[in-house]
Amino acid sequence: MNVTFRQLRVFEAVARHLSFTQAARELHLTQPAVSMQIKQLEDNAGVPLFEQLGKKVYLTEAGQEMYHCARAIAQQLDDAEAVLEQLKGVQRGRLEISVATTANYFASRLLAAFNRRYPGVTFSLDVTNRETLLRQLADNDKEVAIMGLPPEEAELAAETFADNPLVVIASPDHPLAAERDIPLKRLESETFVVRERGSGTRIAMERFFNAHGVRLHMPMEMNKNEAIKQAVQAGLGLGIVSVHTLELEMETGRLVVLDIEDFPIMRHWYLVHRKGKRLTPVAQAFRQFVLKEAGTMLRRPPLAPARAATDAAGPPPAHVAARADKA
Ligand code: PGA
Repeated sequence: MNVTFRQLRVFEAVARHLSFTQAARELHLTQPAVSMQIKQLEDNAGVPLFEQLGKKVYLTEAGQEMYHCARAIAQQLDDAEAVLEQLKGVQRGRLEISVATTANYFASRLLAAFNRRYPGVTFSLDVTNRETLLRQLADNDKEVAIMGLPPEEAELAAETFADNPLVVIASPDHPLAAERDIPLKRLESETFVVRERGSGTRIAMERFFNAHGVRLHMPMEMNKNEAIKQAVQAGLGLGIVSVHTLELEMETGRLVVLDIEDFPIMRHWYLVHRKGKRLTPVAQAFRQFVLKEAGTMLRRPPLAPARAATDAAGPPPAHVAARADKA
């Protein structure tokens, strides 16, 4: 069979997406170019690999067999590329990384420190939410990601390097700002501004409140931590965000962290890649750097509530620092 690598790449993408349009988008090709490659491949193979029923595309039995082989070949090509990168070394590589929206608050600091160590490395950084990150890793679109713990069934290797406490924030003039050890049930009479579905923060907070039998009133949903903080400052309600997003507001006293029973919800940050994937030297160096150094760089998140902002250099208040893993 006279098949080219290009035809296999195109076939693999169409079969993975079950869509000519999406494959064309991923490969930066036109749709007719994709159709042409598939037609040539089918002519070569002597059997149809796809069938179209209505608007949907399906793999034929031969197509499914071909898909298994195409994936294995694509993986081997990736490995070959990684070996060549290995020979070139870390100094001139490129790091393709994706981070969860919330992790972006420290990702630039990490990349800056990594860049000081390996000045020749170039980066591409994608900031997106958990749902998209999982898809990117599954599609082999990104080599490494920084995110909350991925689900077990996702076949991903995840190594933790830092805490990610989620806290309840309010504007400083909110009546609850002056209270201590606020019972969880008390939150049922408040209005919340929360992250979008698909965000790790949202999933963790819902799991936490469900487990405690607390029903929150959440009429406002926003897909950016910045938008939530602005809304909370403007008095639209309370918010739930990671302490990593709060550095500026803590310093300026524009927001306070409420002292809620059983808070913070303790999540963790993970460096994630596909199980069994051979990382390029740059990705491997970045993995080692994050696991070794990031914990120290992030160990002192800006935890002090606004009313204690004058003590910003001191230890975090007990109500934020000491509670155990709950989510
Ligand atoms: P996110 O954060 O809410 O920005 O998706 C990731 C996570 O906590 O898992």
